[in-house]
Amino acid sequence: MITGSFPIERFNRLDTPFYYYDMSVLHETLRVLRAESANIHVHYAVKACATDAILTTIAQAGIGADCVSGGEVKAAVEAGFPADKIVFAGVAKADKEIRYALEQGIFCFNVESMEELEVISQIASAMGTTARVCLRVNPNVDAHTHDKITTGLSENKFGIPMAFLTDAVTRCYRLPAVSFLGLHFHIGSQITDMTPFVHLAQRINELVATVESLTCTDEHGHTVQACVQHINVGGGLGILYEHPNHFPIPDFKAYFAVWREHLHLRPDQQLHCELGRSIVAQCGNLITRVLYVKKGENKQFAIVDAGMNDLIRPALYGAFHRVENISHPDNEEQLYDIVGPVCESSDVFVENYRIAAVQRGDLLVMRSAGAYGETMASRYNLRRLPGHVIS
Ligand code: LLP
Repeated sequence: MITGSFPIERFNRLDTPFYYYDMSVLHETLRVLRAESANIHVHYAVKACATDAILTTIAQAGIGADCVSGGEVKAAVEAGFPADKIVFAGVAKADKEIRYALEQGIFCFNVESMEELEVISQIASAMGTTARVCLRVNPNVDAHTHDKITTGLSENKFGIPMAFLTDAVTRCYRLPAVSFLGLHFHIGSQITDMTPFVHLAQRINELVATVESLTCTDEHGHTVQACVQHINVGGGLGILYEHPNHFPIPDFKAYFAVWREHLHLRPDQQLHCELGRSIVAQCGNLITRVLYVKKGENKQFAIVDAGMNDLIRPALYGAFHRVENISHPDNEEQLYDIVGPVCESSDVFVENYRIAAVQRGDLLVMRSAGAYGETMASRYNLRRLPGHVIS
């Protein structure tokens, strides 16, 4: 499929900036994802985009949800994700979030510390229920991605250090209100080379063997052999920000092939993953209007009405989003710094960028903005939140 055509007449009647979601791209992405992920439980990472129509469409495709707050669990339940397909991660879950998730009967908590394990157990016990848990292990595998979106190194705050894993598993079996399901991992985001995932698979094989060699004692004093029934490899599959038109669908085939080839799964073990960006990035675009074309001494600035509060990825991570002039696509190209109106020098979308010459009033599209775009918007400078339009 080739993407990149926009209903400009419709856009011209609307107040900018706003996110535009092309549902045909989302449907096609979900079709390929489902075809490639047979027998693997995919949970959509709600943090990437929680817009209602996106969530309900993904829920209807039969995919589960990966949540990192009580608010996300609530949004997932309301969008129609079955509770038994919801997993709840997050480095510090508040008591009220744990209670709410238990009330909803979610599939499992991805537990990030021994301390949190005790609190979940106490709350579940007080509620007269049992919390199903996977332990999130920090596997010390380098994702080779931006340092702000790397999560699987020992120096990161996420997960239980490998050195404490056997203690944590032993504790799970001992606690009365906790049921140990397996292990959870997430090494980082926007990973386009499959090698870090292969390294993760190898590490998981070692850790599963270590855990399953443990003999534990349950709350009644009975001896039980530790068993890893569920393995959750997290998310992280990247997309091609440079080529949204020609490669709108991520390489799900290569991603799932890694797990099928490199993880030593028994038939009774279930594989889970938590993809966010790869499901929604390419269906979303930020539509903005040029307010001024300003001549600087050495450069010219296209100042648009979207700012870093609407799309923070370039300012926060130096991320690239392709920008297109959809009002005058055939103009000869010129060089611009495309910047926003927010009072911060970092409110820059792209520098020294070649684009069809723009004039005041032109509509520009910032591509591949469906993931971590609208969900990360803020009201900084007391600007309004961007809002969205669905195709
Ligand atoms: N699972 C866990 C535990 C996570 O922390 C994340 C993302 C995911 C799954 C989904 O990862 P994905 O498939 O989307 O890579 N705001 C940053 C990305 C932060 C990712 C945080 N965790 C960005 O705009 O690049």
